[in-house]
Parts: sequence; structure tokens; C-alpha cells
Amino acid sequence: MVENSKNYTTFLQSAKEAGKKLCSLVEQGEYIRVISHHDADGLAAAGIVANTLIRLDAYFRIRITKQIDEKLIQELASEGISPIIFTDLGSGYLDLLKNELSKNETIVLDHHPPFGKTFSNLTQVNPHLHGFKGSKDISGAGVAYLVAKMINKANIGLSSLAVIGALGDLQDKNPERKLLDLNGEIVKDAINVGCLETTVDIMVHGRETRPAHKALALIRTPYISGLSGEEDKCLGFLINLGIKLKKDEKWVTFSDLTSEEKQKIFSELAKFLSSKGSPYTTPMSLIGTIYTLTQEARSTSLRDAREYASLLNACGRLDKAGLGVAICVGDRDVALKEVASILENYRKTIARYMEWLTDTPGAISEMKNVYIVDGHDVIDEKMLSTISSILVFSHLFKQEKPVIAMTLASDDEIKVSARMSERLVNKGLDLGSIMQKVSEKYAGRGGGHNVAAGAKLPYVHKDDFIKVVDKIVGDKLELKVN
Ligand code: C5P
Ligand code: ZN
Repeated sequence: MVENSKNYTTFLQSAKEAGKKLCSLVEQGEYIRVISHHDADGLAAAGIVANTLIRLDAYFRIRITKQIDEKLIQELASEGISPIIFTDLGSGYLDLLKNELSKNETIVLDHHPPFGKTFSNLTQVNPHLHGFKGSKDISGAGVAYLVAKMINKANIGLSSLAVIGALGDLQDKNPERKLLDLNGEIVKDAINVGCLETTVDIMVHGRETRPAHKALALIRTPYISGLSGEEDKCLGFLINLGIKLKKDEKWVTFSDLTSEEKQKIFSELAKFLSSKGSPYTTPMSLIGTIYTLTQEARSTSLRDAREYASLLNACGRLDKAGLGVAICVGDRDVALKEVASILENYRKTIARYMEWLTDTPGAISEMKNVYIVDGHDVIDEKMLSTISSILVFSHLFKQEKPVIAMTLASDDEIKVSARMSERLVNKGLDLGSIMQKVSEKYAGRGGGHNVAAGAKLPYVHKDDFIKVVDKIVGDKLELKVN
């Protein structure tokens, strides 16, 4: 397939038109409904739109959803005719929007591949329509940000939320874990306006908030045998290197360490990593670009943009989406206090599910062309994509195959969350299109990006669905080889 060339001008033009449309709806006094996805990108996008609408003095309401389906769209239709803005979702379900919402002014600010027919009341801003890759070049929050910036240059400060959205959607899978392309331009805006700094350093979770040895123990990709998951051993490891771990009776965090200390740690970690065939265990995979939000207080979960994204994910997936949006809109008081326990709960939930998956025989199985991760009725459907995103780069899988995770959802359905590495895209695989086609074959719905996609379908078709997905993946790979 010949890739369309990227056209920055037409893309920005479409953002400008959407901005104009939004302003005219606000001026007409319309009540605006904002619908966004429950992940970090979706919440950041909702935060950008909320900030923009507040500044326009608009009358609006935000609703966060785990997915678009008939039920949601019919509910929106039954609420009457008023404008709707979809962020970080919508483009993959244009037929559904057309059938139910064509009387409503509908603005879709999304980065998923468009699917279905457009309609006269639709204003869509989508990077795919201008030759960009939605999975990597820009996030849903990024699209919302460009529209906000077109409405008023003063909205450039919202660029930090777009950076958070892109990191939440794992769009940093580039050398040095850097955001590039349209995301790279947004990073420049954020640096220029003074809300972001970037450095290249060892990547840890909780660099601003966790004691250094605890943060070190949380490194799972690459998996460091003897240190990953072992806080005591990490403590000993740092003490042996002569690193001072307490300052004024308080544990030091990674962000407190000097460059020399971090260099020492890196050299020693590199020795721990053997290159035993797994593509994820090179020492350089420990290093990446750190995005620091300079206007956020030190030692909070909001200072490191990846940690901020985790916090939003935690809110969205543990039924506290409103809290996530409140933080994006600037609440640093009550919301921030409440969110600390949610983040802890989120981390514990992930650890519990990972332990369950590794301890339960048959929960992870290998087929000819894919790995199947079956959460049965144990893994909550809202947490499934977090688990599949962690698993795809885990040391548990030796072969580079797509990971198809599934779990029981409500109404006798299964939720599917599929992930794979970029390398498989070069071999011709597109999980978004596979999820869409196979789920529809079995009375479900699905879609998404080439490397990260999902679906929902009746439980009775689970086994057939798995078989067909495995076969299609195999056929595609074979085609490429021949
Ligand atoms: O749910 P999960 O995070 O695994 O979904 C991956 C991607 O696929 C998301 O961007 C989501 O919007 C998309 N998706 C979809 N239709 C579904 C489920 C997921 O388009 N039914
Ligand atoms: Zn997204």
C-alpha cells in the first residue's frame, strides 16, 4: 500500500475549521455535550476541551465512556438535538454516528483510523485523513489541543495535556522513547511556553515520588533478573554502589540523584542485563526521554508526564474519571489528595492481576500465531487494556506474536484487547482491521490502531473468534514471507 504523504497544512486547516465551528456553536448559546474515552489520552483530551470551553464561557457537560456502542449513541440521540464533541473516539464508528446522530452538529476530534461514511453535520479532525499515523504521530489529546490552539493562541499552555495524552497512548515507541512528528511539534510548544522540560535518563515509574530503590524494583521492561520486583535487592544494589539513599531522614527519589550517581547505576544495570535473545533486554532500553512538567510541584505524581498519564489511567479505569478531568482542569487540592489512593489501588490491582495470570494454569496460552491471555471473569474489563499493554513487552513471551487478551464483560460478552510490537506492522499486520472484521463476523464490534486494538462480542463466539484471529494473523504473515 502506498502511504499518503503527510500534509501538515491541510491537517491544521481542518483543526482551524473545527475550532471555528465550535466557537460558532458556543456563540449561538448551544448546550454542548463532550464524550471522551476513559483512558489517559481520552481524559487529557476531555481536559483540553473543558479548559477551552470554560475560557469561551460555554454551557457544556462531559461524559467519559469505556467505548462507543449502540447503547451510548442511542442514549445521546434520546437526549435531544444539541451539538456533540467526541474526543479520542468516534472516527471508527462513523456509520453508527450517521444513523443515530445525523441531526446533531457532531465534531469528532480523533486519531483512530476513520471507518464508515461521513455526513453533512459532521466536522472531523483526524490525522489519518492527512497522511499521518494516528497510532504514533499524534494522540486524541493532541488533536483536541491543535483545535484549542487554533481557537486561541493563549491555549498553547494546554500542550502539556497533549504530551500526557500521547505518552498515555504509548506513542513514544521511538529511539530514546521520544515523541516525534506532530507530537514533537506539540512538545516544542510546551517547551516554548515554559511548562515542559525534556532530558534523556534512566526510565523508572515514580521518578518524582518513589524511593529510588522502590522505583528501580518497578522496572519490568526490560526485565532485570535479580532486581525487577525485588525491593530489598534493589536497596542492597544501590547501597553497594555507594549511593546515599536518605537525605534529611527522607528517602531520595530518582529525580534527586546526581548525573554521576545515575551513570553508575546505569553501568551496573547494564551488567545485569544479558542479551539472551529477547529484543527487549538491551541496556539502552533502560534509557529514554523524560518529560518533566515544570509547573507542577516537585515530589507529586503530576511532575513526570508519564506518571501523570498513569494517574489519569487509574482514574478512568477505577470509575473516577471525573476526578481525572478535574485534575486536567487544574484542581490541585481535593482531587490531588483523593487521587493518591486511587493510584496506589491501580498499581495493586495491576500487580494482583499479573500475579493471577502467571500463577493460573492456562490463563496464558500460545497458539501458532498469537498469544492468548484469558482473564476469565477475574480481570475487570476496564483494566484489560492496561494488562495487555504491559504483557506485550513482558519477559513472559519469548516469541514476537500479537497478544490477544480477553475477559468476561457484562451482558454475556467478552472484551478483547489486542497488542503487538511495531515490528509486526512491517510484516503487514493491522490489529485494528483484524479486530473490526472478526468481531463483526461474530455479532460484535471492534477496531483501533494497527498495534493496539480492541473488540467486544458475544461470549458464545469466543473460541471461534480466537481461531479466526489466529488464522488471519498466520495468513498475513505467510503472505508477506512468500
Ligand atoms: O480497549 P483497548 O485499549 O484495548 O483498545 C485499543 C484501541 O482500540 C483503543 O484506541 C480503542 O479506542 C480501540 N477500540 C475500538 N473498538 C473497540 C475496542 C477498542 O475501536 N470495541
Ligand atoms: Zn487515544
